[in-house]
Amino acid sequence: MNTITLNNGVTMPQLGFGVWQVADDEAESAVATALSAGYRSIDTAKLYHNEAGVGRAVRESGIARDELFITTKLWNDEHGYDSALRAFDASMERLGLDVLDLYLIHWPAPAQDKYVETWKALEKLYADGRVRAIGVSNFTVQTLDRLLDKADVVPAVNQIELHPQLAQDALRAYDSAHGIATEAWSPLGQGKGLLDEPVLTRIAAKHDRTPAQVVLRWHIQLGNVVIPKSVTPERIRQNIDVFDFQLDPADMTEIASMDAGRRLGPDPATFG
Ligand SMILES: NC(=O)c1ccc[n+]([C@@H]2O[C@H](COP(=O)([O-])OP(=O)(O)OC[C@H]3O[C@@H](n4cnc5c(N)ncnc54)[C@H](OP(=O)(O)O)[C@@H]3O)[C@@H](O)[C@H]2O)c1
Repeated sequence: MNTITLNNGVTMPQLGFGVWQVADDEAESAVATALSAGYRSIDTAKLYHNEAGVGRAVRESGIARDELFITTKLWNDEHGYDSALRAFDASMERLGLDVLDLYLIHWPAPAQDKYVETWKALEKLYADGRVRAIGVSNFTVQTLDRLLDKADVVPAVNQIELHPQLAQDALRAYDSAHGIATEAWSPLGQGKGLLDEPVLTRIAAKHDRTPAQVVLRWHIQLGNVVIPKSVTPERIRQNIDVFDFQLDPADMTEIASMDAGRRLGPDPATFG
């Protein structure tokens, strides 16, 4: 498993397992399958209502805690200094963990105008050693500019929607120039549709791989952290099996040509 070194020296697996839209019980079995397939990083959120199931799978795996990297996120109704501190405690209670690896502000929710105050609470949790790294999700250049102006700690990660049809070149360059790792959500474009694109099926056939593996390999070669979700054991295993082949420059260029600015999720400038 490749790792990425974050701006505070903490290392994070470059490929992890996402559990959005997975019910709590199902999350427990999917995470167990993922851990036995070799995943060591799990991405959950308060919103997903499955932090407890993730925590059970982690504990029952018997894998040493320091080999695992657990991320959760603060939801839009938890912005503000005191409510962010309370939200963290509640997430940790559900997860059953003492120390978290990465805590993210899920959305900037600019209309609430509380993300700077919320960030101050994450800085406090970080200073107190309750979380090994803090970051953001769905932040744009505009919201990051404002946050960086007020922050004492630069976010370690910006988790954003990113797949071949929304390549986010400008935001990736901004993150990189500021020492922020870019993590891709919906890295497979949510599966259907994207994975049938002829460019991807052709490159997949050339390498004797699946289109999903080609897309994940594209992310890895770009340097993105990536967190594909699946509840299908065969796909869970397939999605981590992307470290023993290379896309060539022509493949990378062809996939880059698929960028259409096509968003599947909400617009971070207005959401929340
Ligand atoms: N920060 C945010 O705002 C945000 C937003 C969205 C997502 N996320 C995170 O990012 C993670 C991944 O994003 P996502 O769940 O939206 O979408 P995704 O990982 O791009 O795609 C998941 C979909 O693709 C299918 N799939 C997975 N592997 C496949 C394969 N090898 N071949 C064919 N189909 C495959 C899955 O089906 P099956 O499950 O049926 O196998 C599922 O329907 C989430 O789980 C969550 O952790 C974060």
